[in-house]
Amino acid sequence: MLDTVRTYLDNNKDRFVDELVELLKIASVSADPKYKAEVFKTADEIKARLTEAGADNVEVCPTKGFPIVYGEKLVSSDLPTVLVYGHYDVQPPDPMDLWDSPPFEPVVKDGKIYARGACDDKGQMYMHVKAFEIMMQTDNLPCNVKFMIEGEEEVGSDNLGDFVKANKEKLAADVVLISDTSMIANDVPSITVGLRGLSYLEVEVTGPNRDLHSGIYGGAVANPINILCEMIASLQDENGHITIPGFYDKVEELSDELRAEMAKAPFDINEYKKHLDIDDVYGETGYSSMERTSIRPTLDVNGIWGGYIGEGAKTVIASKAYAKISMRLVPHQKSDEITQLFSDHFKRIAPKSVKVKVTPHHGGEPVVTPTDFPGYIAASKAMEDTFNKKPIPVRTGGSIPIVALFEEVLGLKTILMGFGLDSDAIHSPNEHYGLFNYYKGIETIPLFYKYFADEMKKQGGD
Ligand code: BES
Ligand code: MN
Ligand code: MN
Repeated sequence: MLDTVRTYLDNNKDRFVDELVELLKIASVSADPKYKAEVFKTADEIKARLTEAGADNVEVCPTKGFPIVYGEKLVSSDLPTVLVYGHYDVQPPDPMDLWDSPPFEPVVKDGKIYARGACDDKGQMYMHVKAFEIMMQTDNLPCNVKFMIEGEEEVGSDNLGDFVKANKEKLAADVVLISDTSMIANDVPSITVGLRGLSYLEVEVTGPNRDLHSGIYGGAVANPINILCEMIASLQDENGHITIPGFYDKVEELSDELRAEMAKAPFDINEYKKHLDIDDVYGETGYSSMERTSIRPTLDVNGIWGGYIGEGAKTVIASKAYAKISMRLVPHQKSDEITQLFSDHFKRIAPKSVKVKVTPHHGGEPVVTPTDFPGYIAASKAMEDTFNKKPIPVRTGGSIPIVALFEEVLGLKTILMGFGLDSDAIHSPNEHYGLFNYYKGIETIPLFYKYFADEMKKQGGD
């Protein structure tokens, strides 16, 4: 089967890239209302591509926000069903001036496609559409397949939960397959078996009822920016532990054996530092860099503002200061509970001289998936065939909140078979996706279907 897939891919390589380039030209930024029309246009475009590739009943399903594109190919009720999830929305491109080429004018350079969404997730999602085309055209579709491609992942998938709950029958499947994560390196394939959860909130600190002259009032009235900085600084102690009472209560301490097993995944700290142009890494005492970004919870300020930030100087004490804060969560921590703990703590530590408001944003639960069920075995065999190396199971730091929901609502395990690299600059300027990775994904996916059908037959057959 691999030979047939490779031949088809070879004969259509350039077209596959051209099609992705066209998709990347549409600026489907879900966070910013000014791109609204383009987000909708992208959904229509995905519908057309799925239909062309051979999917049936393709529809653009409206939600309160951006639509979900659904399509399916039901070959036989005797065969297992794969539910493919991906997202067609992308992060805002800012800061624009740091891009070497415009974010929505894709260029192919040094074997990589540069554009917003190239890797996260248009490029990775489109691999599934092209792999499906190959399976249809070469008579090699050994499973039923359902596609669900959403347009609100980057803003918290607010409407996907309702859609999944309302369409349990339609989405019934045996496994969820997602390519929206990264692997260790192009010669070190890996499969993601853990994602962190997320609590995201915004804080507002109010001092005096108006901006004040910093000479007349400075020293006698609380400066909300100073206070906010102190409050934020106090959220972590000198060991990088988060000081919110109860924060670690449910965090699972992993056994030394499991930690030793995880530490076998290759990681070059010097390369890591060099790549980020930093002289040293940072983090919680007692844990390695890899552990800090996978099995440990964290707290980060994502943005902070207030006061005068224009040209030159203005001597002022601002009335208000703001920050956006995210916490990454690990198994057993619950997003709502952590948000509440943060909120209570933040209000408690505020001095009387200011007022504090905490507004929760989206959240998501952490997930860990097993390595001994048909989905994982199939993904592992598929990658082993195409990389000539057995992939390593790894937990990763990012979040895909909907994965926990697939388990809860549909009772389905998810396979996170991503082909990106951490260095692909997702969410950053100059996001890119290697052609090697794009093609590798396209040739690996059909093998996943083959092995998944085999594994399911083994399970049911005897
Ligand atoms: N694809 C990413 C998540 C990801 C990337 C996981 C790389 C593992 C490795 C996804 O699009 C994303 O950015 N998720 C957000 C959360 C969402 C609620 C905005 C994140 O992790 O910040
Ligand atoms: Mn993504
Ligand atoms: Mn993302």
